[in-house]
Amino acid sequence: MTVPLPPGATIGMLGSGQLGRMSGQAARRLGYRLIVLSPDEDAPASHVADRTIVSPLDDAAGYRAIAPLCDVLTYEFENVVAKPLLDIAAYVPVYPRPAILDTVRHRLREKEAVRALGVPTADFVPVRCPEDLKKALDQFGKGVLKRALGGYDGKGQRVVWKGQDAEEVYRELAPDGAELIFEEFVPFVRELSVIVARSVDGRVVTYPCTENIHRRGILHLSIAPARTAADRAAKARHMAARLAEGLDLVGVMGVELFETDEGLLVNELAPRPHNSGHYTLDACYTSQFEQHIRAVAGLPLGDPSLHTPAVMLNLLGQHMESLGRHLATILRDPLLKLHVYGKREARPGRKMAHLTALGSSVEEACARLERVWPLLRAGDEPLI
Ligand SMILES: Nc1ncnc2c1ncn2[C@@H]1O[C@H](COP(=O)(O)OP(=O)(O)O)[C@@H](O)[C@H]1O
Ligand SMILES: [Mg+2]
Repeated sequence: MTVPLPPGATIGMLGSGQLGRMSGQAARRLGYRLIVLSPDEDAPASHVADRTIVSPLDDAAGYRAIAPLCDVLTYEFENVVAKPLLDIAAYVPVYPRPAILDTVRHRLREKEAVRALGVPTADFVPVRCPEDLKKALDQFGKGVLKRALGGYDGKGQRVVWKGQDAEEVYRELAPDGAELIFEEFVPFVRELSVIVARSVDGRVVTYPCTENIHRRGILHLSIAPARTAADRAAKARHMAARLAEGLDLVGVMGVELFETDEGLLVNELAPRPHNSGHYTLDACYTSQFEQHIRAVAGLPLGDPSLHTPAVMLNLLGQHMESLGRHLATILRDPLLKLHVYGKREARPGRKMAHLTALGSSVEEACARLERVWPLLRAGDEPLI
């Protein structure tokens, strides 16, 4: 690869969801061609791509088909298969490097790597049989049991506590005998995240620490900057930078953290643009998507600073009908910025779009969302 990648060069994207779409839009703006690997021709990232190679994402044949057509390969979700990427990386650069993907997509390897870099996480133990789970419950009392591979949006995990039937819980989560991780239950006061970016030549920048509120395992709101103490936010950014360096990241990575009364614990890493960084499109000088493309294309990084406080609301399948009906009313507020992903089917819980509210403070941005939330919500849940 010529560094930096000249305009007109081709970026290959494994995966075709909204993260691929928004990264693709940034790539096109910088003059790159985009080829997407997608199980389906009609996908969010395909709509903005020069070409789509249709192939399932767990089939190495698709990776071998797209690789020779591209100057660099990247991916938009971490459940791509790392092994064939290791072979492909010998002749086409793959960023973030396959080794980091292989580590973080497996929750046990991920936590071990974080710990090895001296960054704190919740205590954890591997669970490979019901007996392991029973021991963990005796030791910790309460925890979160997760499949080591493949979960997202709270899928493939459940809260467990002492007194439950370990055999039954184990079988429910791992009917196939898959590897599990038991994490100690963290009584967090807040969930935070930091998007970190690292360039090919090792420069690191971090975005402001963001506060995240989940509903039913799915990100609901991201508040930037987080309503936490300045030294905590600075510490979180420092931890994210340490992980990016230690894991030899090239590209952007989302670092999820728990804030407790005692301090910060890293929850999980995602070496790709992250849902909690969508606000950067409207509120930062350089969006996380542009930053990712800059990094993988060997360009210098842009300024990640926040120019306007922001609150991002995820719009799920169940919100879309109301969005359509009230679109003009909602967008009458000129500081509400709508991003729709172009997915055909609006299933409940499926991420379809997001709305970023801007303001002179996060309270003002939040008040903008409060005004339109009654038009959007599916039930009578409050915004926060
Ligand atoms: N050890 C834990 N203690 C308390 N809550 C947890 C723990 N692990 C996960 N959670 C809760 O579940 C959510 C989803 O878990 P996470 O590990 O981030 O998986 P996913 O890949 O689905 O995002 C977290 O954002 C947090 O709210
Ligand atoms: Mg998570």
